Amino acid sequence: MASAATTLLKSSFLPKKAEWGSKHQLVAAHPRPATVVVSMVARASAYADELVQTAKTIASPGRGILAMDESNATCGKRLDSIGLENTEANRQAYRTLLVSAPGLGQYISGAILFEETLYQSTVDGKKIVDVLSEQGIVPGIKVDKGLVPLAGSNNESWCQGLDGLASREAAYYQAGARFAKWRTVVSIPNGPSQLAVKEAAWGLARYAAISQENGLVPIVEPEILLDGEHGIERTFEVAQKVWAETFFYMAENSVMFEGILLKPSMVTPGAECEEKATPEQVAEYTLRLLRTRIPPAVPGIMFLSGGQSEVEATQNLNAMNQSPNPWHVSFSYARALQNTCLKTWGGRPENVKAAQDALLLRAKANSLAQLGKYTGDGEAAAAKEGMFVKNYSY
Ligand SMILES: *[C@@H]1O[C@H](CO)[C@@H](O)[C@H](O)[C@H]1NC(C)=O
Ligand SMILES: *[C@@H]1O[C@H](CO)[C@@H](O)[C@H](O)[C@H]1NC(C)=O
Repeated sequence: MASAATTLLKSSFLPKKAEWGSKHQLVAAHPRPATVVVSMVARASAYADELVQTAKTIASPGRGILAMDESNATCGKRLDSIGLENTEANRQAYRTLLVSAPGLGQYISGAILFEETLYQSTVDGKKIVDVLSEQGIVPGIKVDKGLVPLAGSNNESWCQGLDGLASREAAYYQAGARFAKWRTVVSIPNGPSQLAVKEAAWGLARYAAISQENGLVPIVEPEILLDGEHGIERTFEVAQKVWAETFFYMAENSVMFEGILLKPSMVTPGAECEEKATPEQVAEYTLRLLRTRIPPAVPGIMFLSGGQSEVEATQNLNAMNQSPNPWHVSFSYARALQNTCLKTWGGRPENVKAAQDALLLRAKANSLAQLGKYTGDGEAAAAKEGMFVKNYSY
């Protein structure tokens, strides 16, 4: 059964196939040297217009993404940290608390879900995707199958999940999802080897193309891990390489850049580097990276927070929005939105409201940071504690 929002999305953004066809004829007719043998004619996704619209909605001013796609196991770790058992009921109670925070949609435009949550109901029996849609929040879905060792590399990883992806995504679309997430990682201390960078970029490009064919806006996330003693220059250099490869392969796979979102790491020194960087330095390096690697056709750049503290993640985002950018520069935070909320809740029904207030406080702070207007007034000391974990996984 289609939710109200599903129906709305379908009827208001019907793909205009004729228009796309004619644009492609123009491209194909453009004169080019006879030696070029590659075909420029790529079939546009039947969902082209809808993808552009979905990406624009998510990248709307003052809003960003709530990443709540912790797998059963990772959600279990979060629950364990507050002394709760990892049962489906406890996961449901926590996710109900998150999605039903009153007014969340003012600050949050998209929520990334784990498969369990896409089909899950709240404790009151409402579909979680419907609660999100009522809040004006677009439901998204994590579609990768996680990291495994990359044979022939220096103990590096690759991300699984391409097998069967098209049919899984078609089902997710039917269930109400409108965007997808695929997280792969690149490790600086382990190389990164040319092989690992190429594999990460190719996997992301294939995933992005398949997602667009199935109506989901792909979030492209090559996370450059914080692990290591390297300085900020080294992170910058690796990030340049990773994004160059990713865009090369996305172009090769005919990914439509107007219908994707990116989830990059900010350019920071390694977690074990002696020299720390200020939010202004992080913003300077990160914006330099984006300007030299990311085409303006990309509607939104939704940063991940990695191991940054809640406040640090907000400050860094704010610093990047002090002057106009060609893209919407925003957030896709998990721990940096949820940490205080989870601790405040502690699994007790009487704390639900206070926990939702804690979530709204962080969401609002990041909304202000997206607009470049965050001042840092009234931040608690606990929100300033770092959350770096070695080899972090979802
Ligand atoms: C997560 O838990 C649900 C319910 O207990 C189960 O149906 C599902 O298969 C689990 N998913 C994974 C990936 O373990
Ligand atoms: C490979 O990586 C894992 C964690 O990702 C680590 O535990 C292990 O020690 C590493 N092995 C080598 C040989 O570096």
